[in-house]
Amino acid sequence: MNVLIIDDEKSIRYSLETAIKKIEDVNVFAAETGEEGLEILLNNNIDLAIIDIKLPGIDGIEVLERINRLKLDITVIMITYISEVRLAVKAMKLGAYDYYTKPFRIADVVESVKSLSVFIRKKKAVDKIDLSELVGISDNIVSIKKTITTILSKHVNTSILITGESGTGKEVVAKAIAKEAGADKPFVALNCAAIPKSLQESELFGYEKGAFTEAKTRKEGLLEKSNGGVLFLDEVGDMDLSLQKKLLRVLQEKRFRRIGGLDEIKLDALLISATNRDLKYEMKNGNFREDLFFRINIIPIKIEPLRRRKEDIPILLNYFLDFYKTRIESTVSGISDEAMKLLMDYDWYGNVRELKNTIERTLILSSNDKIEIVDLPEDIFLKRNGYMGTELESVEKELIFNLLSKNEGNITRTAQDLGVTRTTLRNKINKYNISV
Ligand SMILES: Nc1ncnc2c1ncn2[C@@H]1O[C@H](COP(=O)(O)OP(=O)(O)OP(=O)(O)O)[C@@H](O)[C@H]1O
Ligand SMILES: [Mg+2]
Repeated sequence: MNVLIIDDEKSIRYSLETAIKKIEDVNVFAAETGEEGLEILLNNNIDLAIIDIKLPGIDGIEVLERINRLKLDITVIMITYISEVRLAVKAMKLGAYDYYTKPFRIADVVESVKSLSVFIRKKKAVDKIDLSELVGISDNIVSIKKTITTILSKHVNTSILITGESGTGKEVVAKAIAKEAGADKPFVALNCAAIPKSLQESELFGYEKGAFTEAKTRKEGLLEKSNGGVLFLDEVGDMDLSLQKKLLRVLQEKRFRRIGGLDEIKLDALLISATNRDLKYEMKNGNFREDLFFRINIIPIKIEPLRRRKEDIPILLNYFLDFYKTRIESTVSGISDEAMKLLMDYDWYGNVRELKNTIERTLILSSNDKIEIVDLPEDIFLKRNGYMGTELESVEKELIFNLLSKNEGNITRTAQDLGVTRTTLRNKINKYNISV
């Protein structure tokens, strides 16, 4: 596991680095500023980043925001002074896993990095596998499958636009189309939200040697690489306006040139675009070109949010249980009726991604044979309809008591098991008056 520490206070950086380095199978990188840290993040496979909030230049919150924007799969822990806890809370909302308040005991941090490393290792083994199957029995999914079959049976290179909220499975649909189109054909993807706007054009068009200062050798662009296969423009709503104009011309003329190049190259690919933005709204606001919209939206595919196709929940659940069963050592082999009912009642604003993550987490943490309501994340079980608050509280109290006893009173570990912050856990311990 690779750990990055970003802190401008030399003594803290140094003592963390020295202590964490001693943990087995852990490599440590250290940076003094946000900028330096980002550079390390981009060039190394960092699994865990421990980031001081207050830094000169780019601060810790901004580093976290960039990690999110780049969709880097990194567990982040913030460091802060107690007087700045407000910022730590903001960081948690942005997806940080936890925070430490200064002054902390180095031994506590080492302890929590150790237990996190187990979690991260299991998660990594699982993430490597790509799910390209499109699972579902709702009318929405069935009709999407029919559309895909029809398009591909006609062997035309058309333009498909996939829309849907985040986590509904747009990438899954794009990959399913590509797979149906022929597994041996090229499939190239540009994620317009992750690649900086200034680099998108050269990624797409490629360039000739000497086209600009950095162009030391000729480079094939994605348009060229997609020939004979599929070009996937993910998050197309984030494409730079000037590039939108250039892309439109390519789609109309079906040919293009590399940057700095003279030869015309033919474009011969099935174009799939996807976005979670409302392009009609973006067009109204001048962020997306109307003419390009009509070009890429020849075959629209709209994936409904999971809450509007709840009949897919049981089949997705079984699919993910099977998927994880072979990859996570877990005692779980099913789900109780009560827990299933909760999953059906819940609104899943994070859609299939949230369901998948919930199941992964539950399998890693639960030690029951069946998923029970207490195994589910707090958000879901607090949603529970028809259950009285007091009943819920007694379930929660018992759960906390049991976990605390199992962990011999260790707050950090228990909070991790529960998937809540230590502060939340401490508040609950006080509220329920629990002592171990
Ligand atoms: N119908 C499905 N069958 C199987 N797995 C699915 C399905 N839909 C989504 N998933 C899984 O849910 C997760 C999110 O899906 P995906 O990345 O395709 O969403 P997305 O719509 O592209 O989201 P975003 O807008 O955030 O990029 C992935 O792990 C994917 O494997
Ligand atoms: Mg996506």
